[in-house]
Amino acid sequence: MSRIPITAGNWKMHKTTEEASAFAEALLSDLPVRAGGAMEIIICPPFTSLGSLQQKVYGTPVKLGAQNMHGENWGAFTGEISPAMLVDVGCTYVILGHSERRHIFGEKSADIGRKVAAALAHDLRPILCVGETIEEREAKRTESVIKGQLAAGIAGVTEDKAETLVIAYEPVWAIGTGRAAAPADARQVIEFIRRELAGAWNVKTSERCRILYGGSVKGENVFEFVQDKDIDGTLVGGASLDAGQFLAIVEETLKAYR
Ligand code: PGA
Repeated sequence: MSRIPITAGNWKMHKTTEEASAFAEALLSDLPVRAGGAMEIIICPPFTSLGSLQQKVYGTPVKLGAQNMHGENWGAFTGEISPAMLVDVGCTYVILGHSERRHIFGEKSADIGRKVAAALAHDLRPILCVGETIEEREAKRTESVIKGQLAAGIAGVTEDKAETLVIAYEPVWAIGTGRAAAPADARQVIEFIRRELAGAWNVKTSERCRILYGGSVKGENVFEFVQDKDIDGTLVGGASLDAGQFLAIVEETLKAYR
């Protein structure tokens, strides 16, 4: 079964609107023609740049994602952004449960699961992030941690939405450290995730869901991950901030799927 690979960039709290526009122009002028259709390219800027980027990427193969959202559609939630608002500014994807949201802002798996369901209800494709800390890995708790995050994250996802959901395995110790997971280790956890999905739904349905790797991905190491048929692409932080580096990741991903 073939799943369309993804290269997604998570800019975190970086770039003004002007910087974001310059990035989009550089990316679009050098994007390989064959990227359109063969893979999905997603950029997830801060909320403030979504509107202006929508103008730039409209009609191109580049899609927009947000880095977070609230689960409700409106109300007295100062400082929050709703799914409908994200759709309004052209988002098709939303990262949910990123480790920085979990560990710095204290988001709980159950709340993340509610957000996943809310995103799907608004035709936004969630990129649900899961991953263990170094302490959890050393204590051989990786699978139990991922199992819990995943179970809560997909609690509201019905089988017919499996294709719409994207999961990103991002070991916390690999994020922003320059220390990517060994591809074999990433593969092992990704296989575990797919088995869990098969248990929650069924094998056929689990094969429709795309599972990415994230954590210190760059042009030099991305091929080792994406050449594995079980790894459907990458979620990239630091290396997504530079159009040239991001393009190198896109190129290497295309090579793996040639
Ligand atoms: P990194 O971040 O590529 O800078 O390690 C990945 C992420 O946080 O999604």
